[in-house]
Amino acid sequence: MPAILVLNGPNLNLLGKREPGLYGSDTLEAINKRLQAQAENAGSSLEFFQSNHEGALVDRIHQASLDGTRFIVINPAAFTHTSVALRDALLGVNIPFIEVHLSNVYGREEFRHKSLIAPVCKGQIAGFGMNSYLLAVRAVAAL
Ligand code: DQA
Repeated sequence: MPAILVLNGPNLNLLGKREPGLYGSDTLEAINKRLQAQAENAGSSLEFFQSNHEGALVDRIHQASLDGTRFIVINPAAFTHTSVALRDALLGVNIPFIEVHLSNVYGREEFRHKSLIAPVCKGQIAGFGMNSYLLAVRAVAAL
């Protein structure tokens, strides 16, 4: 059973009420439930972690190298555009990962066009709302 860690960065705990025009009306809990159901069908096991703190995300990525995590699906949220620490942590544990975004970051403000994570990820999925996560878990199964 491939173990997949689903990581979510800052402000994604507010999904459902946060700018629903951009991010949809599903809560993070609802998204995770859908992911869990899809993973069970595919015979994968999922773990979820969300934090608003860069260091907590870095610590969880380090832990992934010890707990049998085989793949990471990460929406780094605003840290996508700023965090050398998250990029270094992901490279440091040598676990393949997919970057996801609910919104199409390339159709938004210019500061969102740059991802420090994208050059080192397996692939990026952006713009499909909740389906970005579902597609990422399907992509992991195909890897
Ligand atoms: C986001 C896009 C980021 O630019 C933004 O800071 C977020 C959410 C997305 O999922 O579309 O918090 O990662």
